[in-house]
Amino acid sequence: MEEKTTEKKQVIYSAIQPSGNITLGNYIGALRNFSIFDEAETRLYCVADLHSLTVRQNSAELRKRSLSLAALYMACGLDPENNIIYCQSTVSAHAELAWILNCFTYMGELSRMTQFKDKSAKHADNINAGLFTYPVLMASDILLYQTTTVPVGIDQKQHVEICRDIAQRFNSLYGDVFTVPEPYIRTVSAKIQSLSEPTKKMSKSDPEESFVSVFDKPDVIRRKIRRAVTDSETEIRYAPETKPGVSNLLTIISALENKPMDDVVASLSGLGYGALKEAAAEAVIREFTPIQARFDEIMADKETLSRLLKQGAEHAEALARKTLRKVYKKVGLVQL
Ligand code: TYM
Repeated sequence: MEEKTTEKKQVIYSAIQPSGNITLGNYIGALRNFSIFDEAETRLYCVADLHSLTVRQNSAELRKRSLSLAALYMACGLDPENNIIYCQSTVSAHAELAWILNCFTYMGELSRMTQFKDKSAKHADNINAGLFTYPVLMASDILLYQTTTVPVGIDQKQHVEICRDIAQRFNSLYGDVFTVPEPYIRTVSAKIQSLSEPTKKMSKSDPEESFVSVFDKPDVIRRKIRRAVTDSETEIRYAPETKPGVSNLLTIISALENKPMDDVVASLSGLGYGALKEAAAEAVIREFTPIQARFDEIMADKETLSRLLKQGAEHAEALARKTLRKVYKKVGLVQL
């Protein structure tokens, strides 16, 4: 006899901003983990182009990078026939729900967001309202699809938490409208650090030499990793507090080779930092070379790419509308 289950179906949702070169940090912290959920009922992967507008962008570049990111999702193994891959701006429900949820989010909680504080410091001449309400748009992305699981890097944990708070607040007023999502964060690879300042997160908006891009060619990858900041000792040891640079390179190898940290350290014992850097660079090159080849193939057929994105948007739109209709009804908006 088949057992009845009351468990919710698994809905996976994640997004990346097309606001710069997609980095090794984005790849290890998020992108690479997306295919872990191949068995989940519904999986949505979004190009968060609306989020990118919080920082000034070159319009032509943004459009190009958005298409590239969608192609990269596919090149990393997400089959567009079984995963909903789309651009955020092509599904208007995101912006619509964001307005409503803005009215259920407090200034105080938004002003505590560390990403807002960091970005305001970095872009002091453009602290716009979008930067402040950014987490509400992200909450809308997630909540529109009754998401259960959000695979992200550790830097997005606070944003998933505020999303949960908003969902719970709304549900306590109007009944069970939203599923309250859980973040999925892999501890080993949750945060890849900058190559030039290993106490800081690797970020696509920092100078070129501080990150490896998914699109870097082998010679560039080798050069950047060879120049990575380490320390004045010679011993290869995992100690993130005291040896952040060395530990970062060890984390990269451990994550990409799916090897426990102790095994990685043991395999390099007695060797110098040159060997560590060589091993890290080779691990990255092995990972990125086939992805780059698939990416080139996908980008060579823009018509198919556009068709797949349109299909993704239509599918996402249909799911999103269901939630949005419910929300409109609950809050008392006229529906004709
Ligand atoms: P974004 O574009 O900054 O980063 C995309 C994903 O990459 C992860 N990440 C990292 N992981 C490990 N080490 C790093 N150095 C590193 N840098 C970035 C991030 O944690 C993220 O998972 N607000 C989001 C995009 C977004 C979103 C969403 C995510 C919009 N809507 C809905 C999940 C669900 C962002 O700016 O990510």
